Amino acid sequence: MRRARQIYYDGFSAMYDRFVAMHSGDSQRRVREFLADLLPVVHGGAVLDLCTGTGSLLPYLAQRVGPSGRVAALDFSRGMLRQGRRKTKDRCNLLLVQGDAENLPFAAGSFAAVTCSHAFYELKGETREQALREIGRVLAPGGIFFMMEHDLPERPLVRLLFYLRLAVAGAGRVRGFLRQERALLERHFSRVEKVLSPTGRSKVMLCQK
Ligand SMILES: C[S@@+](CC[C@H](N)C(=O)[O-])C[C@H]1O[C@@H](n2cnc3c(N)ncnc32)[C@H](O)[C@@H]1O
Repeated sequence: MRRARQIYYDGFSAMYDRFVAMHSGDSQRRVREFLADLLPVVHGGAVLDLCTGTGSLLPYLAQRVGPSGRVAALDFSRGMLRQGRRKTKDRCNLLLVQGDAENLPFAAGSFAAVTCSHAFYELKGETREQALREIGRVLAPGGIFFMMEHDLPERPLVRLLFYLRLAVAGAGRVRGFLRQERALLERHFSRVEKVLSPTGRSKVMLCQK
């Protein structure tokens, strides 16, 4: 199943950004800026973007940490990372790594913040638990995990494509996660807060270590 999802994302990678633009209209840029603006990270800090996909969040994160800071990005799809590298090739403080969310190749306490945009709900139960443990491990004391997810699209065609993606991820499992996400996050973090994006289409769960 994991391999199937990797193949799915490798194949989907070339049209992924166009699909997201269709899904979100003009709002996507604002949503990413909104997430980056929530970060308490100052110039010189370090941030990890988990399940980075085509790296759309990375330019905003790089701006937040400045040229002396560090942004790491991880994804298990080679295709998605290829698109991400193409988009961010001129930035020197970015490191894109192929890897799995449940086994992060970073030292404990490395990051002031970990972000994960529109991806966490796809992880399977045990993978998700292990990924949360790993996020807690790589966060510095007091560090924050920012989990951003979106609501259902209104346009029928886009909604159909969204359901198709949910089917690949396992629709029942996703619904289960959306119902229980706060309780799950509270098991791993000392403080959990929900913030709605200005568009109302996405939410960010702020989870403090
Ligand atoms: C819906 S995309 C979101 C991409 C990006 N964060 C964004 O906001 O556009 C989900 C991403 O999660 C990645 N992914 C899914 N499961 C993963 C895992 N176990 N480890 C690493 N990456 C994973 C997929 O390859 C895909 O790029």
